[in-house]
Amino acid sequence: MQTRIFLVAAAVFWGTLLYARADSIWLDELNTSLILQGWGEAQKNQSVTRSPLRISGRKFEHGVGTHAVSRLWLRVAGGQHFTAAVGVDDGAKNAGSVEFEVFGDGRELWRSGRMKGGDQARPVDLDLNGIKNLLLLAADAGDGIEYDHADWADAQLTFSGAKPAITGAPDEEAVLLTPAPVPSPRVNGPLVYGCRPGNPFLYRIPCQGQRPLTFSASGLPASLRLDPASGIITGMAPERGDYGVVLCAENPHGKSVRNFSIVAGDQLALTPPMGFNDWYAYYARVTDADMRHAADVMIASGMSDVGYQYVNVDDCWMGQRDAAGNLAGNARFPDMKALADYIHARGLKAGLYTSPGPLTCASCTGTFDHEAQDARQFADWGFDFLKYDWCSYGRIARNSNNSSSGPQAISLAAYQLPYRKMGSLLRQQSRDLVFNLCQYGMGDVWCWGADVGGHCWRTAGDLGFSLQQLFAVALKNSEYRAWSRPGAWNDPDYIQIGHIGSASAMGQPKPCPLTPTEQYSFMSLWCLMAAPLFYSGDMTTLDEFTLNVLCNPEVIEVDQDPLGQSAAVARLTPTTFLMIKEMADGSKAVGLCNQGEFPVQLTAPWSVLGLSGQQRVRDLWRQKDLGVFSNEFSLPVPRHGVALLRFHPEK
Ligand code: GLA
Repeated sequence: MQTRIFLVAAAVFWGTLLYARADSIWLDELNTSLILQGWGEAQKNQSVTRSPLRISGRKFEHGVGTHAVSRLWLRVAGGQHFTAAVGVDDGAKNAGSVEFEVFGDGRELWRSGRMKGGDQARPVDLDLNGIKNLLLLAADAGDGIEYDHADWADAQLTFSGAKPAITGAPDEEAVLLTPAPVPSPRVNGPLVYGCRPGNPFLYRIPCQGQRPLTFSASGLPASLRLDPASGIITGMAPERGDYGVVLCAENPHGKSVRNFSIVAGDQLALTPPMGFNDWYAYYARVTDADMRHAADVMIASGMSDVGYQYVNVDDCWMGQRDAAGNLAGNARFPDMKALADYIHARGLKAGLYTSPGPLTCASCTGTFDHEAQDARQFADWGFDFLKYDWCSYGRIARNSNNSSSGPQAISLAAYQLPYRKMGSLLRQQSRDLVFNLCQYGMGDVWCWGADVGGHCWRTAGDLGFSLQQLFAVALKNSEYRAWSRPGAWNDPDYIQIGHIGSASAMGQPKPCPLTPTEQYSFMSLWCLMAAPLFYSGDMTTLDEFTLNVLCNPEVIEVDQDPLGQSAAVARLTPTTFLMIKEMADGSKAVGLCNQGEFPVQLTAPWSVLGLSGQQRVRDLWRQKDLGVFSNEFSLPVPRHGVALLRFHPEK
């Protein structure tokens, strides 16, 4: 009996001691700056919009205010309990919907279900015994992130031993997926190329392999000539018709040939345009020297050898108009014609930017009331591409008489007017100018962009640098896939990977916030969408990894396929989906996409892919056949990864 009393007393004693040794810490006492989220910054003891934390009228002294999609990674070895009250902050004005989820070492521990603004806070109380890493996720509940002010209120951890810490996303090693090019030649680039009869023609044959290379071409129209050393084709576009050309490149290591069909007619951009746009590198401080340097880097880095071609200056090149209304470059752009000549001398093409409004988005001189004069000027300088950015035109459109539903509403005709006007003016120039409509998708531009003379159109606002946008944009764009076709491309914005510039005058380029896998996913998704491929990052700090993502010819071939299809989405779950793109040769490009926070095994069954029989499956990033399969194919896909594959019917 005495022994039993002693044991109970000892247990109570040790239990009390252990309990006493357990510490607790508020989540807001940790380093919340490492939290990744879809909008704004996570706040301690405040909502994301910096008002007191309040869920359905209940006020909380402690907690972390985030915005979906937010990810909060915690190291909790030694953790005992996690408790919180979660909900949509009242600051979201009864709008927004969020789903809160807690994962422990990759396993789901708890989920709130869909919570709307105004719902009462839901309690979380979790035992953390044996768990090392915790992920607190506030997801968008499947309807986008608008007003998703997600509060982890009263969030507290009890622990014994090591103090919990917010860690940021799991570290990832930057593995190079694209194999290094071999010394023997490999002619790349589109299989079809559109031009208008009688206009100047310029095409640099994209080709990898050790230089010097010797180029030749059979079937080239008589009005064109090829420089055998540089591989640059110049001259005048031939008469209307299809010209089947075979391009060839040789060096001591071998020879490569590629069909190239020149289609002289009304259409340009028969495959999505590829190039560089300076905005996310140099912003308002861009100079003529930056653009020339970008052209040089496009050649020296090998980007032009896989098809990058346009060197496009964005906003802020323009100065003032003279008395006759002629526009010139500003002090940083002393001679626009000389800049275009410099770019052309390398076999590349030059692009520029303006707005149909009186001012551009960065308040420089726009084209309003000078449309014909500017179109002529851009062609005379020798530019090959125009981005036409809505910006200050909104005021004019709202005041236009075209609107039937009051002065503030903009009618479809008013949306179209400036683009129709410029489209027709560009068409009248004796140059091929690719026309990019930048008006963020207003009036469902994908339905009419081609009718007003556009070759590609932004489908949404600026992409920004938040990572969940990538998958969301791909899913959104797939809804417009019916309008994607040769000469008419949905444009989800630039490829913003590698080092990006800082908008501030003194800002140094810094690494983009995406993990290596996310950067590969970016490129995979853009190619599956048949999107224009414009790199917009710093060209002075292009590193091996970024070039590896940008320059895989088998991946780019998916984007440049002559059929011009944008991938369809299938098997959509909250975190995974497949993208399927029909290719001109009867094969299919397929993306196994994992938006989720943990690796998953993804399966593509033939019934979903529209396939039958035996299929040879190729991993396009690694340029490696994975074998011949029947019925289905399955692969592990990393967190935020896209496995990009091509399925060829086995004969
Ligand atoms: C808008 C466009 C961007 C860029 C800037 C320039 O935001 O969407 O792509 O051109 O204007 O001011």
